[in-house]
Amino acid sequence: SGDILRQAQDINYRYLIENEYSIIEADRILQLKDTVKSFYLSHNNVAEYQTLIEHDYFVTDYFERYVDQLEKHPEMDVIEVLRSVNTLRDRSLYSDIQSADLNEPSLILVNKYYQLPKDFVPNLEESYLGFMMEEEAALALIQLCEAMDSLNLNFSISNTYRSYDLQAKIYNRYLETQSQAMVDTYSARPGHSEHQAGLAVDFKTETADITYFETSDAYQWLIENAHSYGFIQRYTLYNSYYTGYQAEAWHFRYIGKELATIVYETKLTLEEVLLLYR
Ligand code: DAL
Ligand code: ZN
Repeated sequence: SGDILRQAQDINYRYLIENEYSIIEADRILQLKDTVKSFYLSHNNVAEYQTLIEHDYFVTDYFERYVDQLEKHPEMDVIEVLRSVNTLRDRSLYSDIQSADLNEPSLILVNKYYQLPKDFVPNLEESYLGFMMEEEAALALIQLCEAMDSLNLNFSISNTYRSYDLQAKIYNRYLETQSQAMVDTYSARPGHSEHQAGLAVDFKTETADITYFETSDAYQWLIENAHSYGFIQRYTLYNSYYTGYQAEAWHFRYIGKELATIVYETKLTLEEVLLLYR
């Protein structure tokens, strides 16, 4: 088998040399991880995209979209190009809408490109103070809230699960006084809310409304600790461009401890973490 391996490597080596890579470059490429190596071995004339191809955020299937994005936006650096395509942000918000993958209830990705069916209702369970959440998220929210209670943090819950119809009512009420472009920066269109998936919780302080939550000790504690219970702040200031939403200090999303910890550590969007680390 050693011979077969060497033979296969020789074929690859020859291919690269024939495609005008230097000996040093060919040697280097053959030592890259398998997915990147096979990308080079199956594409001609991609040497100029080296920083793109060898970046941790590179997804083989999106190569053409990265190149398009690079051409359309010369002002973007490689990371911005990779991140915008990985979050589908190279397309207009609410364009090319697809059905959300419903196979794993706690991992459902719902955003401005993926929607839930009108009649979708998760397996709901009572959570902290009787608020309804998807069953796995319900359990995790109880643990999270009990931890905050034990630290005497002042907080309350504003809302959790919302039906499609309730989301429609809320969104349409905002539309009565504001433009759709404005409303879209803070309220999800019906079918596009994580609240319908039963995976989102909006916190507030006991005395004030959700917009003051950002100034609370509970919020400071949550942004450092919520991931240990499987929750992330879903809409941050630093990811606002990619999510298409203004920052929401109050809105936390359940995703499970493992992925929540990756979101916490990388500061990437949930979209990217699901794409790159799932
Ligand atoms: N406010 C969030 C984006 C929602 O409506 O789900
Ligand atoms: Zn929310």
